[in-house]
Amino acid sequence: MFDPALEAEDRLSNASTWESGGNLWASSEQQTLTCCRVVDETHDVKSFEFRVGDGSPVRFEPGQFMTVSANVQGQSVERCYTISSPPTRPFLLSITVKRVPGGTMSNWLHDNMKPGSQLRAYGPSGSFTPTSAPAAKSLYLSAGSGVTPLMSMTRASIDLGLDRDIVFVHSARTPGDIVFRKELQRLVELSPRLRTFFLCEGTGDEGWSGPTGRLSLELLSEWVPDYAEREVFTCGPAGYMTAVRTLLHQGGLDPARYHQESFDFTAAVVPEAAAPENDTAQETFNVKLSRSSKTFTMSASETVLAAARKAGVAIPSSCSQGICGTCKTKVLEGTVDMNHKGGIRDREVQKGFRLLCCSRPTSDLVLEL
Ligand SMILES: Cc1cc2nc3c(=O)[nH]c(=O)nc-3n(C[C@H](O)[C@H](O)[C@H](O)COP(=O)(O)OP(=O)(O)OC[C@H]3O[C@@H](n4cnc5c(N)ncnc54)[C@H](O)[C@@H]3O)c2cc1C
Ligand code: FES
Repeated sequence: MFDPALEAEDRLSNASTWESGGNLWASSEQQTLTCCRVVDETHDVKSFEFRVGDGSPVRFEPGQFMTVSANVQGQSVERCYTISSPPTRPFLLSITVKRVPGGTMSNWLHDNMKPGSQLRAYGPSGSFTPTSAPAAKSLYLSAGSGVTPLMSMTRASIDLGLDRDIVFVHSARTPGDIVFRKELQRLVELSPRLRTFFLCEGTGDEGWSGPTGRLSLELLSEWVPDYAEREVFTCGPAGYMTAVRTLLHQGGLDPARYHQESFDFTAAVVPEAAAPENDTAQETFNVKLSRSSKTFTMSASETVLAAARKAGVAIPSSCSQGICGTCKTKVLEGTVDMNHKGGIRDREVQKGFRLLCCSRPTSDLVLEL
């Protein structure tokens, strides 16, 4: 029987809803973004709103990111940023960036992006979206700037008038660090089945009567007793996600209901450090770059990207996790063991391309670089 409520619920989870929303902007294609507005969200977080190309609407899914590219002190730098605006507003795309101490791109964006400034970017990409896991009831867990993909999903749900059952639990250092606090409170007023909870590690200078500390199973069970029945989307620093994943596992959540995206480049370093010390890991291979004729030797336990960096070879990269596709390179000779997270298509693999950030050599290599 046709159920209009369920039909509406399905819309957020249906990729075809977003496919009809604007022009396709391929993740391999660069376009120019023109900054239209800069919004101070907190003391160290800003949102930058952009028109894309000639201002035509752009198609993407809530939770996807784009890879922005800038020339910073003579070096070309690329970084991924989630599109924090929803696809229901396809004419103006925003990213929300936390200033990272010592960070190249985040500081450059904060210091240089003004209305009228331009930036190059690759099109939307990523599979951390509700379409990958349709659900009637969701739990969004975020910390710090990890709020952005979940904000896009929440805004999209409200814009579509879905009144979805969403519980959004956000952790921040202090009350002053809560990104989108006022907007989330306003969205709760618009959608009775959206509930938000904020948790702060410390009270900061502001008065804070809310809970302090880190997310625990006890607190989660109190706020969201039915958490194990929900589709869970988590985003934040690597340490936060490890803790959340462990507590949800202890709480009996089916791992199939758990989805996460990491913004943290150190997350990609962990598996490498933990690579088993077996005979293969001890092997070394020679890598040759066909265009520059540079060569270097690397261990089988390292990723090609990490080894190239050590050897002083600059290869464009961003996520270091096999997500964004920035480090895609053709392997002309030799073989690698690649463990990616959706940043490359099968047809590209068939043509010989590999993501160097998540590829370890199994023979000597010649790369098209
Ligand atoms: C899919 C995805 C989506 C993302 N979305 C967002 C988002 O919505 N908002 C957001 O704010 N961020 C987001 N990020 C993170 C973002 O891509 C950047 O990683 C972040 O802004 C930091 O970049 P940066 O160039 O400023 O810092 P980097 O220059 O990359 O430095 C990062 C940190 O590492 C340190 N560092 C740099 N080089 C070294 C070194 N050689 N040795 C030791 N430490 C070093 C720096 O001091 C700094 O603390 C996302 C990441 C991914 C993968
Ligand atoms: S740097 Fe993102 S896929 Fe390799």
